[in-house]
Amino acid sequence: MKTIIPVLLLLVLISACSTSEKEVRKVYTLSNNWKFTRGEVSNAEKPDFNADAWETVSVPHDWAIKGPFDKEIDKQTVMITQNQEKVATEKTGRTGSLPYIGVGWYRKTFEVPEFEAGKKALLVFDGAMSEPQVFINGQKVGEWKYGYAYFYFDISDYLKQGEENLLAVRLENKGESSRWYPGAGIYRKVQLIVKNDVGFDQWGTFITTPFISDELAQVNIKTDISGDDLKLVTDIKDANGKVVATGTTERKFGDRMVQNIAVNQPQRWGIETPNLYTANMKLFRGNQLVDEQNIRFGIRSVEYERGKGLILNGEVTKFKGVCLHHDLGPLGAAVNRAALKRQLTILKDMGCNAIRSSHNMPSMEQLELCDEMGFLMLAESFDEWARPKVKNGYNRFFNDWAEKDVVNLVRATRNHPSIVMWSAGNEVPDQWGNQGIKIAKWLQDLFHREDPTRPVTMGMDQVANTLKNGFGAIWDVPGLNYRLPLYDEAYERFPQGFIMGSETASTVSSRGIYKFPVEEFKQKKYADGQCSSYDLEACWWSNIPDADFAWQDDYDWVIGEFVWTGFDYLGEPTPYDEYWPSRSSYFGICDLAGLPKDRYYLYRSRWNTKDETLHILPHWNWEGREGEVTPVFAYTNYNSAELFVNGKSQGIQKKSKETLLSRNRLMWTDVKYEPGTIKIVAFDDKGNPAAEKEIHTAGAPHHFVLNADRTEIDADGNDLSYITVSVVDKDGNLCPNAENQLNFEVEGAGDFKAVCNGDATSLEMFHLPTMKAFGGKLVVTVQSQEEAGKITLRVKSEDLETGQIEINCI
Ligand code: GAL
Repeated sequence: MKTIIPVLLLLVLISACSTSEKEVRKVYTLSNNWKFTRGEVSNAEKPDFNADAWETVSVPHDWAIKGPFDKEIDKQTVMITQNQEKVATEKTGRTGSLPYIGVGWYRKTFEVPEFEAGKKALLVFDGAMSEPQVFINGQKVGEWKYGYAYFYFDISDYLKQGEENLLAVRLENKGESSRWYPGAGIYRKVQLIVKNDVGFDQWGTFITTPFISDELAQVNIKTDISGDDLKLVTDIKDANGKVVATGTTERKFGDRMVQNIAVNQPQRWGIETPNLYTANMKLFRGNQLVDEQNIRFGIRSVEYERGKGLILNGEVTKFKGVCLHHDLGPLGAAVNRAALKRQLTILKDMGCNAIRSSHNMPSMEQLELCDEMGFLMLAESFDEWARPKVKNGYNRFFNDWAEKDVVNLVRATRNHPSIVMWSAGNEVPDQWGNQGIKIAKWLQDLFHREDPTRPVTMGMDQVANTLKNGFGAIWDVPGLNYRLPLYDEAYERFPQGFIMGSETASTVSSRGIYKFPVEEFKQKKYADGQCSSYDLEACWWSNIPDADFAWQDDYDWVIGEFVWTGFDYLGEPTPYDEYWPSRSSYFGICDLAGLPKDRYYLYRSRWNTKDETLHILPHWNWEGREGEVTPVFAYTNYNSAELFVNGKSQGIQKKSKETLLSRNRLMWTDVKYEPGTIKIVAFDDKGNPAAEKEIHTAGAPHHFVLNADRTEIDADGNDLSYITVSVVDKDGNLCPNAENQLNFEVEGAGDFKAVCNGDATSLEMFHLPTMKAFGGKLVVTVQSQEEAGKITLRVKSEDLETGQIEINCI
């Protein structure tokens, strides 16, 4: 099907365009009516090839997320040396057991009536998984390698004016190319920019704020420009669109124009107040506008000080961060703004203030949201340099492509105020050996060349070695992954004067699952493929959250942490790498459906300093455990509390420095289970009851409670509402062991998009409207159509009352 761009225009033009900008620069997001097929096809790039039989898809698209899960996919008989394994064993589920391997082809036809002599057309990809080869009208315009990289091609010489053009993209994913689920396909947006030949270069503008006081901020703009005899007029607008300062220049230094514009009484960008400004930049030749762009930025100061770490706008700011992989659970890798916003909303409530885009370039949508919502971003680049972790990983491309990938990462994203640090890599095996040290220096210099304003880090796991060989001393900010016992020595011997927990915890748990006896374990495995939610289980290299907290509490030079991970992700089902059907991670603070595990409240009790946290675990449905010891923990920001079981006091517990656990958890370790009610009463620091919470033993499943994260969504065809479905008894108590098979019907102005229950061992597919509850819950995602109206979701299950919720699309 061909798309005629004028029709598309109305839908996709970026809203910030003024009338004049629309005349000189058109930006089309190529989202609808792509044709897609899997497998090698000869001549698929040729205009006369008939692709009518291919599937019609929209982009962003992940071809593998609909599965099915299959144990044989990317089964790897490997020895994971980073995990200190000594023998190769069969690993299933390492990349999610979804069909990402192989070739995929995309085709899209379009017309560009305004393209004519003197115009330039750029095709911009935010990422394509992977090894994209791009063809226009049958001719190859270029290729890229890294599936996470942003890249663009100038396609002016390949386009036909007034005729239909064909864009074809060939992608290929090799097996053993990743340590997690990479997704497959054009999973991020594609844009076509049509502009004058003369004008702003793509990603050629860098806005910084080198001087800031309460009275005045210096906004420094450097912009690379093609063409001569031009005048640049920049209006700085505040968040309400009011012009607060203007600058004009006609001077060019080589290919660059530079402006310094004063903004009075600047509103700083920060975590609590993410104030943003926009530079509206117009280029004139004589009186004629030739190009226009709008670039959003923030006025904030970022410094790093010995012994303290990040100083944001003059205030010491510790990283309360999480690492995130790029997949969106049941949506796969296909980027979706609403899904990302939901993740960040959940994390914000936890008190999280930072994200590490492990281990690759973040999506533009995520960066925009971090700017808008006030998150600090540690933008990462690579999981591998020249030495492999997986046979077909980035090591195949590093030498030829690393510079191009770093340049594009920095140039495309450097105006985002949320980015406060770059990361040159994660646990690369090149930490060993002299060559690696040279690469480290070269990479850091590259980042500095492209952006002299931000420091560079690297997530190191071979800490003992990097202490000896000098590798760790190179980085602006030494990032340590785990290795708490080496923090002291690293602080002592590294020259930087602080240590950052670039990766911490890797505690494992399954939402709503508790195992007895309650003990600290490493690499513990159970017959059901689940991990205990008492939050005492980790891997041999990792630790429970409390261990990280202690270092941060006791030493100011520990400048914060990035917990592995904020959300469970597809692939890497440690400690069940060899256990089928485990196919997704257990590391998340929230599960794959985005539902908080108990650990969420442990972090919240420390990180969210504004709101009350009072959370009890485990659930209280232990039929068969009557009279047996069933410890009760509370995660709370209160320092003491009393526990009651069916009205009988179990005593008061207080936080204390006595043990690692007692610093942050209130624990009643010898409670004997009896059905009924457990109640906790928390005390303020004067000893007065301040808050209470109860959990009841639930009866038989009876009906559903449906809760939407948003009951009003945009009728734009992309927006999402996430509806948490809980199976409850007749009195409304969650049935924590319910595993009923639920069926979903969606009617009206939206569609059923996906469902996920957070069970890492489930082989039910996310896009089919049926799934078992796990721990009594699951999350259904519905997507809006392009017309306003009501969406009705109905949830049905045998013997249970049907549940229903309405979502408004406006
Ligand atoms: C780290 C690694 C992460 C993940 C994690 C699991 O060593 O950087 O990508 O594998 O371990 O604990």
